[in-house]
Amino acid sequence: METPIYGLTVRDVTKHFKRSKKPEDKLRFTKKIKNILKPEKEIIRAVDGISLDVNIGEIYGILGANGSGKSTLIRLISTLLLPDSGSIHVFGDDVVSNSMKVRRIMNRVSVEASFFKRLSSAENLIYAARLYGISSSEANKKAQSILDRLGFETKRMDEEMESLSRGMQQKVAIARALLTTPMLLLLDEPTTGLDPKSKRDVQAFIEEIRNDRNAVIVLTTHDMAEAERLCDRVAIIDNGKFIAEGTVKELLAMVPAKENTTTTLEDVFIALTGKNLEEGDA
Ligand SMILES: Nc1ncnc2c1ncn2[C@@H]1O[C@H](COP(=O)(O)OP(=O)(O)OP(=O)(O)O)[C@@H](O)[C@H]1O
Ligand SMILES: [Mg+2]
Repeated sequence: METPIYGLTVRDVTKHFKRSKKPEDKLRFTKKIKNILKPEKEIIRAVDGISLDVNIGEIYGILGANGSGKSTLIRLISTLLLPDSGSIHVFGDDVVSNSMKVRRIMNRVSVEASFFKRLSSAENLIYAARLYGISSSEANKKAQSILDRLGFETKRMDEEMESLSRGMQQKVAIARALLTTPMLLLLDEPTTGLDPKSKRDVQAFIEEIRNDRNAVIVLTTHDMAEAERLCDRVAIIDNGKFIAEGTVKELLAMVPAKENTTTTLEDVFIALTGKNLEEGDA
């Protein structure tokens, strides 16, 4: 049997972080001093044995609470972090041994996107485009059309990034990732913090990209409706582990419907993780 070639393959990947344990308040003085001099470490299993495959033309969703490991997994795929064990391949290339090649064909959007804050969004976008060998005029045209599509008033493109709201900066980050035609697009919470209209604009745009381009798209979110709307397959991540994976339909079938109601993705999430994403600061 022929083995299918996936755009993205993640095999049993693990990333642990060491964190200094905060000493308990009631420790005895000598023990406290010892703790300051040689702090006790605890191990955070941010990504703990994760495997996944995503094909061209597919949007793969990763749904998880705060701190469940979504961004760590995205950083591992995008070569920003090195895995402790396991392997990741992008169109057949290993992200560790072939990182330069992988970087050229992928782009990542995240809430902590970095910009030259004192430059305008137009300048930032042109700078990014130049790195990819796109001319200023072409970049400007393309950036304007994407930003317009995302509901960003293009007349504000000349304002310093610093003076833009976080949601507006997020839209510039999305535009920057899509100036080129990445074969792998990593969207780490692309709509978190956006107002409802902007959220819908960005979601419609992501759907458009899926339809127009032959790309592999991985998207993380806290938003059940977003996962239902956009993702061909969804994985639920909890404490660094995938605890379920499938199409939305398959996930919904995992939890029996209560009387006179239909199961929602939220019901599935709560049943499997015991957590409610709508609460807290999610
Ligand atoms: N550089 C780091 N050093 C130490 N611990 C880290 C580091 N990066 C992440 N962690 C820890 O790893 C765990 C997973 O974090 P991660 O950022 O991947 O979660 P997340 O699912 O993206 O959360 P959120 O929804 O809040 O963005 C958390 O416990 C976090 O504190
Ligand atoms: Mg995150």
